[in-house]
Amino acid sequence: MCGIVGYIGKADATSVLINGLRRLEYRGYDSAGVAIMDDGRIAIAKSPGKVAALNDRARAEWPAERFSRATTGIAHTRWATHGPPTEVNAHPHLDQSGDIALVHNGIIENYRALRSRLEAKGHLFLSETDTEVLAHLIGDCHKGDLFQAICDALHQVEGTFGIAVLSARDPHRIITARRGSPIVIGVGEGETIIASDASAILSHTQRVIYLDDNDIAIVTADSIEIRDLHNVPVTREIAELGLDAEAAEKGGFDHFMLKEIHEQPDCLANAIRGRLDHSLGTSVLAGTGTSPRDLAEISRVVLVGCGTSLHAGLVGEYAFEDLADVHSEVQQAAEFRYRNPILGSRDLVVAISQSGETADTLAAVREANQKGAFVMSLCNVVGSTIARETGRGVYLHAGPEISVASTKAFTCQVAVLLMMALKLGRGRRFSREDGIRFAREIESLPSLVARVVDQSDSIATIAATYQKNEHAFFIGRGPMYPVALEGALKLKEISYLHAEGYHAAELKHGPIALLQPGTPVIALACDIPGKDKTLGNIEECRARGARILGIITEGDHEAAEFMDDFITIPRAHPLIATIPAVVALQLFAYHVARLRGCEIDQPRNLAKSVTVE
Ligand code: AGP
Repeated sequence: MCGIVGYIGKADATSVLINGLRRLEYRGYDSAGVAIMDDGRIAIAKSPGKVAALNDRARAEWPAERFSRATTGIAHTRWATHGPPTEVNAHPHLDQSGDIALVHNGIIENYRALRSRLEAKGHLFLSETDTEVLAHLIGDCHKGDLFQAICDALHQVEGTFGIAVLSARDPHRIITARRGSPIVIGVGEGETIIASDASAILSHTQRVIYLDDNDIAIVTADSIEIRDLHNVPVTREIAELGLDAEAAEKGGFDHFMLKEIHEQPDCLANAIRGRLDHSLGTSVLAGTGTSPRDLAEISRVVLVGCGTSLHAGLVGEYAFEDLADVHSEVQQAAEFRYRNPILGSRDLVVAISQSGETADTLAAVREANQKGAFVMSLCNVVGSTIARETGRGVYLHAGPEISVASTKAFTCQVAVLLMMALKLGRGRRFSREDGIRFAREIESLPSLVARVVDQSDSIATIAATYQKNEHAFFIGRGPMYPVALEGALKLKEISYLHAEGYHAAELKHGPIALLQPGTPVIALACDIPGKDKTLGNIEECRARGARILGIITEGDHEAAEFMDDFITIPRAHPLIATIPAVVALQLFAYHVARLRGCEIDQPRNLAKSVTVE
């Protein structure tokens, strides 16, 4: 969603900030702005639309020397919540005096009450945003000490924030704080970079400090002082990002999504590496902090997440029941805390989140902790809020996922869930031999997926047949049911085609009414238990004239007979096969969207990391 960058050092701050915003574009946004400290005064440029438009605006509005001489500034990409994506609503916002500039991620929930109070004192607001209210509140609290003013203002705020503040009265520092919205500070040589996401820091330094909730930091070019909101100093360790700046580049591919689809064999190898014990037929997941005794105590696994991560959880549900004989269920993170989940110390709650910042998943973690469950996370972004709050879990090691449409995170999430289920299974019903066999299957995932990725060109040819349709149905059974849901999500989010995923048996309970001659039905009909029943459901669709695209197992001539078009995946255990099957659907969605001329990496209205409820 929104992105923050702040810079203080020796370089041309405007360029650093705009480049930093470019690195955050993938998060999804609809306007952008920058504020620099120019000759003791704050200069601001803002624009609706893309960062490129902001760059043009700043160059057009500012004299050339202003553009390049500032060495301190803050910048923002906004994903509209309060008021449309206009120039006036874009950040940075100024306080009443015009001396204090603020960028903000998150939501100030009590902004209406604060705004009325400030208006009664004579404050005039230009925008519809909650952020401008916070800027004015800081100004109103300013009695000579900016740090104290920010503390006083933040004490009055309800909601979430990650902020960076620049003041013309205090031009040699930036103050940044967080509650609920991430802030990372890059510790460079004679320069400090503040960002809401490490991607904007990567090209400057690998050394970072993650702020915790209610931390407030005073940042100069060569110092970082962190306190809590009661002005008590706190110590935060410097961590190494361990990320390659090139990992956040397209590397010759037309889109990040295509690059990330192609990366999956390597990502899966990274997710699996060192985590399988082939002699004992189990997995070794160091970060979970569980002993065999802890695992034996677990009576239920509850998987929570949103969107694609929720779909990974649905595959996990099958895996925990099938491999470990343990009761397992998936809950939408957004609903979790509102439905009084029944939890106890023998329940393992696994929070699944690529970004580790999704507001609903984070709230579910907090609820599960409150209820005394055993909570762990499965995140991709190292140092993310969910990873840090759970304190135990497994990182995916998929590398930065830039495309809004999640691909490699999903396959790595499923791979890690399979390894978790294997471990739990070995303490229960799985024999050593069963475990060894399944571990071998997991180990083969990179090569299975590579065989699907290699079919990209032929999948593009198939996609051409379907790109003109406006509706599509995805069907599957067993562990392929969540794959159908994920395939439909991928197609709709990037191609804007209306796509729905259903259990194959569910179509005839209503949705089949929508089938017309030529309506695409994408059927997960791999050679796994239940295939014959799925083929029966396909017959029902064919009888109504639907055009069938099957995802079938290599060499399955019987299934091929049922299809108008098909994509093959290698033969594998039903749970393992979910991963190559979803890769086929990722490529299908990608090529349909490309042929329809869609903006694939940043689809309209979507954000990479959803930090609001
Ligand atoms: C998937 O393509 C989406 N962009 C979205 O559904 C995403 O999976 C969801 O917002 C959850 O994000 P998370 O994994 O970062 O928590």
